[in-house]
Amino acid sequence: MSNASSLRIGLFGFGVVGQGLYDVLGRTPSLNTRIERICVRDRKKERSLPIELFTYDKEILLQDPNVDVVVELIDDAEAAFHIVRDALLAGKAVVSANKRMIASRLPELLELQRTTGRPFLYEAAVAGSIPILRNLEEYYDNDLLSSVQGIVNGTTNFMLTRIAEGNGDEKDVYGEALKLAQQKGFAESDPTMDVEGWDPAFKTVLLALHGFGVVLRPEQVVRKGISSIRRADARWAAERGATIKLIARVVVNKGRVSASVLPTVVPNTDHLAKVNNELNAVQLQAAFADSQLLVGKGAGGGPTASAVLSDLSALRYDYRYSYRKLAANTGLVVDTERIGTFYASGAAADVNAIPLVKLIAQGEAEGLRWVVGVSDARSPKMEEVFTKAGLFWAEVAPEVAIAGPAVQVALDEASV
Ligand code: HSE
Repeated sequence: MSNASSLRIGLFGFGVVGQGLYDVLGRTPSLNTRIERICVRDRKKERSLPIELFTYDKEILLQDPNVDVVVELIDDAEAAFHIVRDALLAGKAVVSANKRMIASRLPELLELQRTTGRPFLYEAAVAGSIPILRNLEEYYDNDLLSSVQGIVNGTTNFMLTRIAEGNGDEKDVYGEALKLAQQKGFAESDPTMDVEGWDPAFKTVLLALHGFGVVLRPEQVVRKGISSIRRADARWAAERGATIKLIARVVVNKGRVSASVLPTVVPNTDHLAKVNNELNAVQLQAAFADSQLLVGKGAGGGPTASAVLSDLSALRYDYRYSYRKLAANTGLVVDTERIGTFYASGAAADVNAIPLVKLIAQGEAEGLRWVVGVSDARSPKMEEVFTKAGLFWAEVAPEVAIAGPAVQVALDEASV
């Protein structure tokens, strides 16, 4: 690849990111790339480029000896996997942004890279423009890194920002915020992937792989989305000097790894509380470097294309992921326990059904019952209450819970 005078690209998909990439490549002539052909599905859609540049037959791209690199930017995870597999088997280098496909098919994709020896890069799959995967892969030794956490879904962060700011229609602040995120091109084509926390869970799988050498299945990420949030929850947090954020987290401690995506009540003094709109942030905790924070745009055409561009540039010097930590960390045990200290709100019957080991505070606001406590992770009822529709859950730091106005039961008196 490094000997090629130009990098010849076969592009799959011409949506928000595909068009962003076309733009970005046009503005970076120093990279010396050429898009040979673009494979798309929809024959009726009007295209902004000459029609001769498009094909509807994936084999034309996959078998084209002029194509060095296949860039896969389509939506359908199953079709994307077949493209990536066939491209690697055809001897092409591959770049993808499809976090769902990669996180769901990790073992096969690792094996394909091993057997074909071809590079497969996917920086754009996690946190858009933030350079995190190659950073985790090359810079941080896994013994020194203890956690990777952050905001890795632009759609929900954009929605949570609007809900917290109280923008828009009081009655449908959630629906309005989602619609705007869709219009801006941040949301997945099926936005339940964003609001139920699947999209950040896929990204968490990739953070666990490159940060700690752990292969997780997306279902092993303890996951709760924001679809049950109401404005009252955002107000509850604001009254206590805090903000609700959807936080993805991978923590390794004493031979155990836990991965989660949970709404979290973050004190406003924390850097993550200030990361708003579609911005993403990744915070690393390492033994001697201590805490570090990377912030940048996590969704949208240009920012996501910037990460694809960086992968293309890396291919020019034959870069590939080495997955060194994967070999080193085979003994880690995966923890899938539900959250400890939490805030929950919803209908009184649902909130009262949560099994607790400790009640810290409780009250009512805007017709909803809320509770702060420590949940009983081992109770058989946990699965049912944790997944209950309409019940909003958030992890909460104890200093947030006790800092609020009255309506609280003293911690010791209330313990059950
Ligand atoms: N739907 C994703 C998000 C797109 O909102 O972050 C970028 O991965």
